[in-house]
Amino acid sequence: MQILHISAECFPMAKAGGLADVVGALPKYQNELHCNASVIMPMHRTRFLENNHWDVVHKASFLFGQNSIDFTIIKETKNVLGFELYCVDVFGILDRTSIYGYEDDTDRFLIFQLAVIHWLNNNEYLPDIIHVHDYHAGLIPFMIKHCVEYRKLSMIKTVLTIHNAQYQGWMSLEKINLFPQFNKELLGLLEWGNCINPLAAAIKCADKVTTVSPTYMKELVHQANGLEDLMKQEAAKSLGILNGIDYNFWNPRTDKLIVQKYNSKTFIEGKKINKQKICSDFHFDESLPLFIFIGRLVGEKAADLLPASILKAYQQFGQQFNFLILGSGEASIESAISEIKQDHVGYYHSQIEYNETLSHQMYAGADFLLMPSRVEPCGLNQMYALRYGTIPIVRRTGGLYDTVIDFGDKNGFGICFNHASVEDIVYSIGRALDLYQSSDKVNSLRKKMIRINHSWERSAKDYIDLYNSI
Ligand code: GLC
Repeated sequence: MQILHISAECFPMAKAGGLADVVGALPKYQNELHCNASVIMPMHRTRFLENNHWDVVHKASFLFGQNSIDFTIIKETKNVLGFELYCVDVFGILDRTSIYGYEDDTDRFLIFQLAVIHWLNNNEYLPDIIHVHDYHAGLIPFMIKHCVEYRKLSMIKTVLTIHNAQYQGWMSLEKINLFPQFNKELLGLLEWGNCINPLAAAIKCADKVTTVSPTYMKELVHQANGLEDLMKQEAAKSLGILNGIDYNFWNPRTDKLIVQKYNSKTFIEGKKINKQKICSDFHFDESLPLFIFIGRLVGEKAADLLPASILKAYQQFGQQFNFLILGSGEASIESAISEIKQDHVGYYHSQIEYNETLSHQMYAGADFLLMPSRVEPCGLNQMYALRYGTIPIVRRTGGLYDTVIDFGDKNGFGICFNHASVEDIVYSIGRALDLYQSSDKVNSLRKKMIRINHSWERSAKDYIDLYNSI
């Protein structure tokens, strides 16, 4: 089976969040199951682009309103990622350093999608399945089914995976002039709330819709940033498939980025050495428990609650724990998180950046990972934490609900709470501090967590079953 994934991100070529991790791992695992999966994405100017070899496989142009757009498709020569990786290069538009955040992002992703289908239309071999991820590729199911010029592609089956329904790629109805020709009676398929909504269009037009966890699928019917009714309407073709994690890359037994490797038998010593390293880097007392937060510093992840929660916990429990934050995001949250550093030197620190190496070292060295997310479609960090024996403290939502059981419940190993609020976070930190008093109890939970299997093997197979069903 030939599968083409279409995405804005793919690790390690370009990563802003978990979407990249999924698109960088799923195709590799699908190929291990004897599929032929590949990825196409915009050509962001990243280190991976510079450090690898690329072949030009296609050059052409298409009309975008009055303008002709020249594009080039390049392919990474050696399949270093375990699948074929293609990128779309458009001078001045799809050759920038950041993935998102430009004023013309809507046009950029529209041009990306047009280049992809234009390329496919000229290809001798076509995929059996086109798998689009999030809104950046959301117009493709509509275009291949309904644009006259691409009739040849209309037999290809399409799957949409929603990694995050908050962002939908809204554009004004006038942009329709930039689309290839289609029967205007079908305009309703593109429209939602009086604008063109690429995510809604994909939900309507894809043959199957998946979300990245079963609970997130249930939540979207009630809370989907305006798409609730549509999710209800399309429920019959929709299902939640829990993400996996890349076990080759996230493995404390082989991880080259951590100072001491370990497994389910040697984790006590292994974690101790990794904790020493982190604590000495940040001048923390290693005898105290180490809490971490890793992720985008945005409201969705409830990162805005961190400063008040941490300060209140220090007030309530004393300076009896270390807290280390790694991430970047909204400027106001970044500065609130940085501001409290000066008064809490020696037990609180924040690094405002994206740093893959430090994140591995933090999972390996920390005692607890906090994820108070307001919305969490799947969440990969809690699964990385489990693999590295770091106890997750999570709000019961989306994929966090599906992957973490409170240690007070049957077969439990983590700490769960219900509300994204300072009170619930502080209360949970308190429970963690109590738990930390018993190293036997902590170690038995760690052992249990490390043995849980969240590898992609199972989910990659679920996707293949889904493709076969269409
Ligand atoms: C998005 C979601 C996150 C999910 C990831 C991969 O980043 O916010 O919950 O794990 O996509 O699917």
